Amino acid sequence: MSGVKVKRTRRIAINTGGGDAPGLNAVIRAATLSALQMGWEVIGIRRGYTGLLEGEVDGEPGVFPLTANSVRGITHLGGTILGTTTRGNPFGLDVRRPDGTWGVADRSTEIVRRFEEMEIDALIAIGGDGSLNIANALQAKGLPVIGVPKTIDNDLAATDMTFGFQTAVEVATDAIGRLHSTAEAHQRTMIVQVMGRHTGWIALESGLAGGSDVILIPEIPYQTSSIVAKIRERDEERRRFSIIVIAEGAVPAGGEPSYVDQTGRYGGIADRLAVELETLTGKETRSMVLGHIQRGGTPIAYDRNLALRFGAAAVRCINEGRLGTMVALQGNEIVPVPLLDAVKELKRVPVDCDMVCTARQLGVCLGD
Ligand code: F6P
Repeated sequence: MSGVKVKRTRRIAINTGGGDAPGLNAVIRAATLSALQMGWEVIGIRRGYTGLLEGEVDGEPGVFPLTANSVRGITHLGGTILGTTTRGNPFGLDVRRPDGTWGVADRSTEIVRRFEEMEIDALIAIGGDGSLNIANALQAKGLPVIGVPKTIDNDLAATDMTFGFQTAVEVATDAIGRLHSTAEAHQRTMIVQVMGRHTGWIALESGLAGGSDVILIPEIPYQTSSIVAKIRERDEERRRFSIIVIAEGAVPAGGEPSYVDQTGRYGGIADRLAVELETLTGKETRSMVLGHIQRGGTPIAYDRNLALRFGAAAVRCINEGRLGTMVALQGNEIVPVPLLDAVKELKRVPVDCDMVCTARQLGVCLGD
């Protein structure tokens, strides 16, 4: 029949951006299976938006169909089958000029055009604050987006929890727990540096669960004298070892955080504190950095289920036309919140929250 517009199959795309987190593949699996169940097509984009801009990524097509077979058995796998990048902001991509120098290019309009050419109806962007800010800016340019909150840092304000966080806490707690015997054997002070970027959620939750004596978070600038007093107090109680958990973004009162480079990447605070404490207390002190171990490996059951719920909810949002939103955990429910609300501020540890109060009531030193 002429003139009758045949309704085409709805098509959605999925990408993963920023640092990886345990649970990414569970989101991809749930979103893909939910969309396929609706009779839609699903496209995977490799490495953030790179796959849209480059025909090939790592020798594979930059975009490719996600099928039931593509996502079979990936719920428990760490990492992301799509790959990711922390340097893929389409509004400011590093580009090499013909003369060999480097510049920055805004290729965001090209991204929107590629979505239109491929007749993609919506993008499920799985990411942290950086990726979700990019998704929000693309939404403003007309690209329909649903955000899924991913980060081990748990620092996104609009959701009670991000997936990946509890797995990182589990990994850090296990590491901290293992230190008690070796610290006691040598009567040492052991300092464990954990991730979390600008916030102390991982340090607080793993420090409490791991039975640490001192927990240092960016939200509470620490006095070295308070830490020394805690170590000496334990000595007097004949508990001649101490476990200190310090967030990578922690800062001495009146001082500055420790960075590893000019980009503002945190690093070195545990080593810096270890030198100070060994000098001030005269006790052998050792420091260690858990680093990317907190991001690796299989997600724990809690994060698998949270990630599956987020992925399925993202498809429901698209089906209900709730675009420009992020799926969020609020209480026990997954609800859509405006993407703008999700990215406008970081969720920092309230210094009077019940977990901080609990730590203080247990006699944990918070450095103040
Ligand atoms: O945001 C997640 C996170 O793991 C932070 O906790 C950490 O500071 C950062 O990423 C590390 O980034 P990269 O993987 O680029 O070293």
